[in-house]
Amino acid sequence: MTKSNPVDVLVIGAGLAGLGLTLRVAQAGRRVTILAKGQLTEGSSLYAQGGIAAVFGKHDSFAAHIQDTLTAGAGLCRPQAVEYIVRRGPENIEWLIAQGVEFDRQSGADGAPNFHLTREGGHSRRRVVHAQDATGQAVENTLEALVRAHPNVTVLENHIAVDLICASKLKADPPERNLGAYVLDMTSNHVSPIAARVTVLATGGASKSYLYTSNPDTSTGDGIAMAWRAGCRVADMEFVQFHPTCLYHPHAKSLLISEAVRGEGGKLLLPDGEQFMQHHDPRGELASRDIVARAIDYEMKRHGYDCVYLDISHKSSQFISEHFPNIYKRCLEFGIDMTEQPVPVVPAAHYTCGGVLTDLNGRTDLLDLYTIGESGFTGLHGANRLASNSLLECLVLAESASNDIVKRIDSRSDQAYELPHWDESQVTDPDEQVVVSHNWEELRRSMWDYVGIVRTDKRLRRAQRRIALLQEEIRDFYSNFKINNDLIELRNLVMVSELIVKSALSRKESRGLHYTLDYPQPEKTSHPQDTILVPTNFVGAHLNPLWTSEQQHSSA
Ligand code: FAD
Ligand code: SIN
Repeated sequence: MTKSNPVDVLVIGAGLAGLGLTLRVAQAGRRVTILAKGQLTEGSSLYAQGGIAAVFGKHDSFAAHIQDTLTAGAGLCRPQAVEYIVRRGPENIEWLIAQGVEFDRQSGADGAPNFHLTREGGHSRRRVVHAQDATGQAVENTLEALVRAHPNVTVLENHIAVDLICASKLKADPPERNLGAYVLDMTSNHVSPIAARVTVLATGGASKSYLYTSNPDTSTGDGIAMAWRAGCRVADMEFVQFHPTCLYHPHAKSLLISEAVRGEGGKLLLPDGEQFMQHHDPRGELASRDIVARAIDYEMKRHGYDCVYLDISHKSSQFISEHFPNIYKRCLEFGIDMTEQPVPVVPAAHYTCGGVLTDLNGRTDLLDLYTIGESGFTGLHGANRLASNSLLECLVLAESASNDIVKRIDSRSDQAYELPHWDESQVTDPDEQVVVSHNWEELRRSMWDYVGIVRTDKRLRRAQRRIALLQEEIRDFYSNFKINNDLIELRNLVMVSELIVKSALSRKESRGLHYTLDYPQPEKTSHPQDTILVPTNFVGAHLNPLWTSEQQHSSA
């Protein structure tokens, strides 16, 4: 048993959500320990390209941004969440600027410097604030420096959270309270408990459950799986967003070609040069992502092509290298000069719209456990996320959760509980590693083949059977062998994949990102429902009652 005084706030994850919250809480005088399972900034936020959607343009309005978000969300956005997050956008961009982030500017009509706003699919206006085509890097690098320098912050890199520690497990009161997390130090291979008055999950999405993804290796759904195991509800996991345009090249692991390329005039072409998007949607290349990804998938399958092409070579070389310097450079490394030739592209898993059910302060079903960013579900995105609304949600939820935490922390217990040690008596089996990597591969291929852009009940059930077998094997490894990060991540990916399939099977209609040949139309109803899964160990909701009154789909 370990008895240690809890840290004020334990933040698991250092993307925009985790870094933003850490900095705000530290600036308010509270002590924070922040974990990342690799280097501090490695995660989706670092690779964000297009930018952050926020209302600044003279011809823009909150009403227009709200409407575009609701339209993309296909009837499932929670209007209160959309309204709140959209309206908090501009102030949060100003907060980033006050921390030192530099966004692209241009001279306005009156000579004053304004943001250069780019455009992306589903947006009726130019509204995306950006730092060239590497917005994530600009934001992460600035916040990283501030977090590392802050005396109230302890940074633990190469530390992976394994599981949450619930009071119910220790027979402590109240049982629905979270007390911290077990964490594996990946350097010493030792697991220890970290006690915390408040714990925040900011672990990002789960797109690594698919074979092809735009995401870095960190996106293994750890926070969603940990929260589910601890007794929190998760919502709308069937809505997996596929980005239409990732580079198709045998040596490119996950290079995104930003939607801003289409926003600035890029055209999608078949290999013979024919433009096809206008056959699928009057908005052409600027239709929302679900429509563009499905159109590409359809054209590739119809003709048997390996990829389609994205062409912006009609713009001047200067325009391309000024607007997309990083994408241009990365494509050149693969022998593709986008100023001269079209870029081969395919869709890939990009964003997890579902996640741990939270209110607009990031509170979850467990007391003292928050979830923010891509691992959380506020209801902003509905059945399909509008481009560049994710970084916006990370920023706004980091702000509201940090305010809530700072306000409540003095009332949160600083009692030191006896936290049991992790049982480290298990051995490492040399065979184990090869089975783990085989299972990773099998899972990700099954998800790609059977739970992809176009689904059927038959394919989903096929995936479900495979996932059940994998679950069994992983349970066996997990209880018999020494854990490492690969096993932890595989266990989480399998869990999250099960939640995705279960949610997809329960939706008997096509809506937004969930498209099934068995029910190709949306259900005819003016009140479509979220898919809310309830774990068997659900202990009680601490969410805003508005959030809990929604219809729930129970899951054993
Ligand atoms: P992440 O940034 O993914 O960070 C997750 C963090 O959690 C990492 O630090 C990771 O190490 C840590 N972590 C995970 N599990 C554990 C664990 N078990 N223990 C310890 N630490 C853990 N959205 C936009 O709005 N605009 C864009 O332009 C845009 N472009 C994108 C481009 C790409 C290539 C990608 C992949 C995504 C893009 N998105 C964009 C989506 C957006 O970047 C992400 O949704 C967002 O950055 C998620 O931020 P986050 O803080 O929730 O998680
Ligand atoms: C992109 O730049 O295309 C990604 C934007 C996003 O995912 O919101």
